Amino acid sequence: MTAERLPQRTIRRPAAPPGLRVRPYRSADLAAVVGLFQHTVRTVNALDYSPQQIAAWAPDAPDPDAWAARLAAGGVFVCERAGTIAGFARVEPDGTLDLLYVDAGAQRAGVGRHLFDRTVRWAAARGAGRITAAVSVTARPFFERAGFRVVRRQSVARRGVALENFVMELERPVRRS
Ligand SMILES: CC(C)(COP(=O)(O)OP(=O)(O)OC[C@H]1O[C@@H](n2cnc3c(N)ncnc32)[C@H](O)[C@@H]1OP(=O)(O)O)[C@@H](O)C(=O)NCCC(=O)NCCS
Repeated sequence: MTAERLPQRTIRRPAAPPGLRVRPYRSADLAAVVGLFQHTVRTVNALDYSPQQIAAWAPDAPDPDAWAARLAAGGVFVCERAGTIAGFARVEPDGTLDLLYVDAGAQRAGVGRHLFDRTVRWAAARGAGRITAAVSVTARPFFERAGFRVVRRQSVARRGVALENFVMELERPVRRS
């Protein structure tokens, strides 16, 4: 299986926007990544979800061991801007993109797209022919712009609170040769 099976615009290796550098996650990044997650959910996603939903999504006391275990597997990347982590992403070898978060102060600067392209290449190199994600209301326009389609709307329970999101996927094109 090759990267040719994913849409061309996702596998091109675009020039990084100036000042951005994507690199693999390291365990020393844990605190910065969890802090970024907490802050982004509580500021950016808070525009689309209720305070109760946000509290369930990003609780006051995140479990560092659970985060460390989650980030130790799969394709996990951070994007640095001016030497600071401005975003991070995680994808499974089968193409399930389960984390993509950009710092509140770095939104719409190309960080998400740059991380996304890197994770897609990582998954494609491991045979994934399709990228799927459970996408927040907040992130839906980004994924639509990247070529995803909505498969279904769903409600998931986090700590007993219902959150709405969208199952979205980016299918590989039909090969013509
Ligand atoms: C979704 C998210 C990761 C996008 O990251 P980002 O760095 O802001 O996105 P980019 O700058 O790379 O955007 C690339 C393109 O996507 C589209 N896009 C991104 N955010 C958009 C928005 N809110 N509305 C409309 N289009 C948007 C635009 O076409 C954009 O290109 P442009 O800025 O040149 O017009 C970011 O908004 C985020 O962290 N959201 C909160 C966390 C979240 O919900 N994560 C997803 C969990 S499933």
